[in-house]
Amino acid sequence: MNPRHIAIIMDGNGRWAKAQGMPRFMGHRAGIAPARMCVEHCVKLKVKELSLFMFSTENWSRPQEEISAIFELLIKTLGTEVKKLHDQRIMVKFVGQREGLGDKLISIMEEAERLTEQNKTMRLNLALSYGGRWDILQAVKSFIAGDNPNLSEDKFNETISAHSFSDIDLLIRTGNENRISNFGLWQLAYAEIYFSKVLWPDFNEGELDKAIQLFESAKRRFGGVHE
Ligand code: IPE
Ligand code: IPE
Ligand code: MG
Repeated sequence: MNPRHIAIIMDGNGRWAKAQGMPRFMGHRAGIAPARMCVEHCVKLKVKELSLFMFSTENWSRPQEEISAIFELLIKTLGTEVKKLHDQRIMVKFVGQREGLGDKLISIMEEAERLTEQNKTMRLNLALSYGGRWDILQAVKSFIAGDNPNLSEDKFNETISAHSFSDIDLLIRTGNENRISNFGLWQLAYAEIYFSKVLWPDFNEGELDKAIQLFESAKRRFGGVHE
């Protein structure tokens, strides 16, 4: 069975650029094509939810020049991609802290969400200024604000899924780093994890299929016993 929800930590852009003797920014630019490929491949495989980790709460500590380059690239890319996503009836959701993103980008994000909110082919979560700890805190805060005394695991799961994204079945991290880097801490509880040595700009369909095969061959016991 295919995973219902795939999440990807798209890492290795800077190292890819450096290896080619290019500035880091060129690596981010080269990272657009594999993201597009993943969207298309997931639609083909009838995956219901795809989450892409684009910029973390910790990435704000990078040099201002790199941050500006990433956000300029993002604004430009969304300008052309959103319409194509809508044509394929993909629902686009931005997940993360909106404060500090700038009015121009926020209005593009809101417009994309409004345009695609009824779409049913697949839900695409774009994690931007996102952190797993931030995500959990947001859900906790909304519970406190709602003065809800019946906080349970199921209720919390519903809340966090509505705020950001649901349980992840398969996590892929590229760039040869074996860590989570503050992504989806709640939603990764029972994810199968595929660490890829490939740098994100080189990520391709074959590598994505390998990750999906790992998921398909896994015996998901959820703590139980399989004979
Ligand atoms: C991932 O690539 C993209 C972002 C975190 C924005 P990196 O920029 O982290 O690339 P490396 O890890 O330095 O190679
Ligand atoms: C994780 O990559 C964040 C994204 C891919 C958006 P980083 O490059 O920021 O992670 P660390 O610093 O290696 O943990
Ligand atoms: Mg990195």
